[in-house]
Amino acid sequence: MCGIFGYCNFLVERDRRFILNTLLNGLSRLEYRGYDSAGMSVDGDNGIQIYKEVGKVSALRELVESQSIDFDKTFISHSGMAHTRWATHGKPSRINSHPHRSGIDNEFTIIHNGIITNYKEIKTFLLKKDIVFETETDTEVVIKLTKYLYDSQKDISFTDLVKAVVKEVEGGFSFIFKSSRYPDELVATRRGSPLLIGVKTSQKLKVDFVDVEFSEGAERATLNDPTGTGFVDVASGTTGAPHLNRSMSRAFLSEDGSPQPIEYFLASDASAIVEHTKRVLYLEDDDIAHIGAGELHIHRLRRENDNSPISRTIETLEIELAEIMKGSFDHFMQKEIYEQPESVVNTMRGRVNFEDHKITLGGLRGYLSTIRRARRIVFIACGTSYHSCLATRAVFEELTEIPTQIELASDFLDRRSPIFRDDVCVFVSQSGETADTILAMRYCLERGALAVGITNTVGSSISRETHCGVHINAGPEIGVASTKAYTSQYIALVMMALQLSEDKLSTENRRKEIIDGLYLLPGHIKEVLATAGDLQQLSKDTLSKEKSLLIMGRGYQNATCLEGALKIKEISYMHSEGILAGELKHGPLALVDENMPVILIMTQDSLYPKVQSALQQVSARKGQPIIICNTGDDNLINDYRTIKVPKTADCLQGLINVVPLQLLSYYLAVLNGQDVDFPRNLAKSVTVE
Ligand code: G6P
Repeated sequence: MCGIFGYCNFLVERDRRFILNTLLNGLSRLEYRGYDSAGMSVDGDNGIQIYKEVGKVSALRELVESQSIDFDKTFISHSGMAHTRWATHGKPSRINSHPHRSGIDNEFTIIHNGIITNYKEIKTFLLKKDIVFETETDTEVVIKLTKYLYDSQKDISFTDLVKAVVKEVEGGFSFIFKSSRYPDELVATRRGSPLLIGVKTSQKLKVDFVDVEFSEGAERATLNDPTGTGFVDVASGTTGAPHLNRSMSRAFLSEDGSPQPIEYFLASDASAIVEHTKRVLYLEDDDIAHIGAGELHIHRLRRENDNSPISRTIETLEIELAEIMKGSFDHFMQKEIYEQPESVVNTMRGRVNFEDHKITLGGLRGYLSTIRRARRIVFIACGTSYHSCLATRAVFEELTEIPTQIELASDFLDRRSPIFRDDVCVFVSQSGETADTILAMRYCLERGALAVGITNTVGSSISRETHCGVHINAGPEIGVASTKAYTSQYIALVMMALQLSEDKLSTENRRKEIIDGLYLLPGHIKEVLATAGDLQQLSKDTLSKEKSLLIMGRGYQNATCLEGALKIKEISYMHSEGILAGELKHGPLALVDENMPVILIMTQDSLYPKVQSALQQVSARKGQPIIICNTGDDNLINDYRTIKVPKTADCLQGLINVVPLQLLSYYLAVLNGQDVDFPRNLAKSVTVE
């Protein structure tokens, strides 16, 4: 979805060129999240200057570069913010792009990721006050409301103003506000959409956390606060006087207590921050972060049942800049496909003991017996993450013997499916920020279920809000079409099933077979990658001019078919359908003739004879399927075109079979001239419902 980036320098002299470049580069890193338009808000020579352009960040860069402004002008302190948009309300256009403003003088400006659900009500209210709107967006109401509340109060701090605004706003959001009324300051807040703040100083930080400042006297006096002051001394754990207020940002003060030169970077995800600093803190829902005069203060309304921690830890990012660069590859997707021999090892590192055939998932320690006793395990996810659940369902059921249910998060929520205290709900999400999955997680938490998160993003909402979980450690995934996250999620779920069944003697041999298969997996994936040239040729000769492609298989390979078809749809825009071969005769067979391209997954497992019968059915209708089969399978007569893959344990075969489909989808997209990493209408992280 949209990407948010902010940059503040304090006592660090920066020229305008540097500031604009920093903002533009931040946007480029976030562009994969959403990319139909971009914009930014910085200090001009007379008040705030907004630049907006439709298209990619490069178009905004051109616009900025064409301005006749003094690029060498220096700022000892400055605040700026920038945004990439993925349109939800109103078509992509300059006017609908962010930042939005309070009026033509740009007095208040805002950038937003998410959706305001009560924007119509707020707009109706503001229209009655004769306030004029210029865009079709939901976001604009927020900045018009900000100005309205400012005018009615005037003598109000920036933080209190934003507090008053967010109290009125419903929906999901992360916002950054910039105003000429509060020069060199930014206020950022979030509810449901991710936001983190990077800190860069030349000196070591004094402490590695920032205390949360609670406010709203009347409300807070009711909560665990005998003094009624509302201020909780984090160090002593006791309540005390408001004097603590000034020491809240002590992390950023120098030895003598005065502010030190400092830069802050705000972003929707870590990939935009890591090139500047690795020291970051993640905002929690309803935090209001104020940056001004070199200090960062995190404010919060004290509410009943507010269980969020009373400080925000300054963490160290583990990702490296190289991980978010394409290197020698043409596209991120290609790079990520080729990283799989390594990323699957990273998922298993320190967790699989190949000699003793033991699995240790530290993140589930302490919860294993609860999970084993569960009445059922419900897997909830979207898109590719959903397919990873589907791919591992059979082995989960086989090893754990716990009833297993798999849910698409949106449908699960639509049905308001019953969830009980003795359910275990597993939320699988690469980003850890997918809105539907997060809402499903909160729904299950409210009903008392144990929530397990499987994510690739440390610090994401899902990794923070679940009781326990597994980080898949696949490294940052930038390509919108998920590839390495799929194989790593798959492995994480298999490892979970293996660990849950470790006390069952009856499964010992099976577990050994699977763990041995995991050991050989990186080599097997490499073998498939080595055939990329053949797959490229196949795409060119056979598939690139087609309008449709059916991918068939059954059992473990049903998920592979769905995932392969999703990849092809997403990036090559060719219609593709994954078909469960057992259902062929109940409908899809009507599509098959000599002109319909078909890929049939026919690797050797217990269902092999049944897939052979599907091959007969397709061939009898003059279909000419391309067959994904195991190397050395001599049952196949030579007439078929084949894609050969090494054989492994049946429940791991999908990890290998999906790789040629990833490569085929990649080559089809390249051959058709599509923008592989930025498929139209799609976003990497879907943070709206
Ligand atoms: C989007 C992405 C997909 C992804 C899905 C779920 O649609 O384009 O690649 O599978 O969201 O995302 P998650 O981050 O929850 O795995």
